[in-house]
Amino acid sequence: MRYKSFYSIIMSCLLFSGANSYAADLENGKDLFKFCTLCHGQVGQGIKGGDFPKIGGLPKYYLRDQIEQFATEKRFNPAMVTIGRLDTMSDKDKDDLVSYIASIDIQKAAPTLTIPTFIGNAKKGKKLYKGDCKTCHGKKAQGKEKKKAPPTAWQYSEYLLRQIDFFKAKDRHHDNDPEDETFDDYTKEEINDILTFISTLDD
Ligand code: HEC
Ligand code: HEC
Repeated sequence: MRYKSFYSIIMSCLLFSGANSYAADLENGKDLFKFCTLCHGQVGQGIKGGDFPKIGGLPKYYLRDQIEQFATEKRFNPAMVTIGRLDTMSDKDKDDLVSYIASIDIQKAAPTLTIPTFIGNAKKGKKLYKGDCKTCHGKKAQGKEKKKAPPTAWQYSEYLLRQIDFFKAKDRHHDNDPEDETFDDYTKEEINDILTFISTLDD
């Protein structure tokens, strides 16, 4: 009994100090997001065809990691870094910014957003996806934090295809692993099939 109450006092102190030490400033995040909307759209919906990906509603763990990758040129896009002001942003600003972007409910904010069904065979793609992608990206391609894997549902197929090409060319590292061979043995058709299955998950 005594132990229990001692424990609960310690726990509430920890919780209390935790709550005080970090609360994202969403207003600040929203202000900073203005520099992103120029390319990614008012609510981060991107553009059809995926030249600019959808970022609204992506999870914090992924956003935070990716903007750091751009800022340090692990992913190369100097225009985004300069115009988006990622080169001069403090860590706190980056935290606020990604908290704001993650808080966007994209289906409410952009009700007309849909991902057009891609050009391949969704049935074949589903089988491949279940075997080789699901463990990290999730059954509905919703992403998995503990694998650091992003959601790929609701992302433009052409954008995803471009990333896979970057992974194959080692211009970007899949799963943070320079040796990653996930895509080496797939034919172009099989990759199209997987992306087609993913493109059917936006409902
Ligand atoms: C000048 C245009 C431009 C601006 C401004 C810009 N971006 Fe981007 N962003 C891009 C392009 C283009 C890509 C895709 C790069 C690629 O294909 O690798 C991208 C990719 C991303 C991605 C990767 C998405 C994914 O699913 O992998 C994130 C996250 C992102 N941008 C966040 C931001 C944030 C946050 C800001 C504002 C601070 C911002 N961007 C400002 C053009 C821009
Ligand atoms: C072992 C875990 C793992 C497996 C299995 C896996 N992925 Fe990934 N994937 C990741 C991680 C982690 C990332 C984020 C990479 C980064 O840090 O930039 C990623 C990123 C991606 C991206 C880029 C998304 C974006 O928004 O930029 C695509 C596309 C992708 N994976 C497709 C696939 C496909 C298709 C398969 C199955 C053939 C697959 N992945 C299997 C872990 C995995």
